[in-house]
Amino acid sequence: MMRIVNAGKKYGELEVLHGVSVRIDDGDFIIVRGKSGSGKSTLLKIIGGVLPPDEGKILWNGVDICRYKESEMVKWRRSSLGFVFQSPELIPYLSAKENAALPMIYNGCPRRSALIRAGKLLKMVGLSERMNHYPAELSGGEAQRCAIARSLGNMPSMLLCDEPSGALDPLGAKSVMKLLKMVNQYRKTVIVVTHDPAWEAFGNRVWDLSEGRLTER
Ligand SMILES: Nc1ncnc2c1ncn2[C@@H]1O[C@H](COP(=O)(O)OP(=O)(O)OP(=O)(O)O)[C@@H](O)[C@H]1O
Ligand SMILES: [Mg+2]
Repeated sequence: MMRIVNAGKKYGELEVLHGVSVRIDDGDFIIVRGKSGSGKSTLLKIIGGVLPPDEGKILWNGVDICRYKESEMVKWRRSSLGFVFQSPELIPYLSAKENAALPMIYNGCPRRSALIRAGKLLKMVGLSERMNHYPAELSGGEAQRCAIARSLGNMPSMLLCDEPSGALDPLGAKSVMKLLKMVNQYRKTVIVVTHDPAWEAFGNRVWDLSEGRLTER
């Protein structure tokens, strides 16, 4: 599905990624590890087309996404990818259901249908009883599960998660990782950056980033 070929990234003099080449297959669950500053978030941004690499190619089904025009890139990201970050960043004056519906509405889906589908997704992530709650009324784990529901609205084929459980207590973190595993079982590719070695067992692959290099265990 995706092939990263010889990707390199520098911030000024700082070389963060050096000659990274790796393949991502449909249905992979990849855990990305590496110490703080090793380039994990940078790699995720490159995979998600948010940050262009200085060198190399990012092939999505054979096409180099670095050559996309900005409008093609936005369209590709909206239709193929879902993003989950450490903090869920829900819009405070919208309910859980309205938050989850938002990316579908941005993607042209009629509001009514988007809300119906958001309701189904919230049910799937275990938030049936919380649909009409506002973000301030959700626990950290619930807010993060709402953000995962939101990321799934446009049926992405790949989910990119940067420390999705990083701000949660162990119980909340576990519920989020189990949910990502469930999402993965629908043959969606999931890539998770995490500091916690306990979550390595959730992946079928583990990448280690160190000194600009990616190695696979
Ligand atoms: N926009 C930027 N401009 C300059 N330097 C940057 C920029 N973004 C990241 N860096 C530097 O690049 C290196 C890698 O950053 P990155 O955020 O990818 O690391 P990380 O592995 O995700 O770290 P953490 O585990 O702390 O989140 C760091 O040294 C960081 O300071
Ligand atoms: Mg990071």
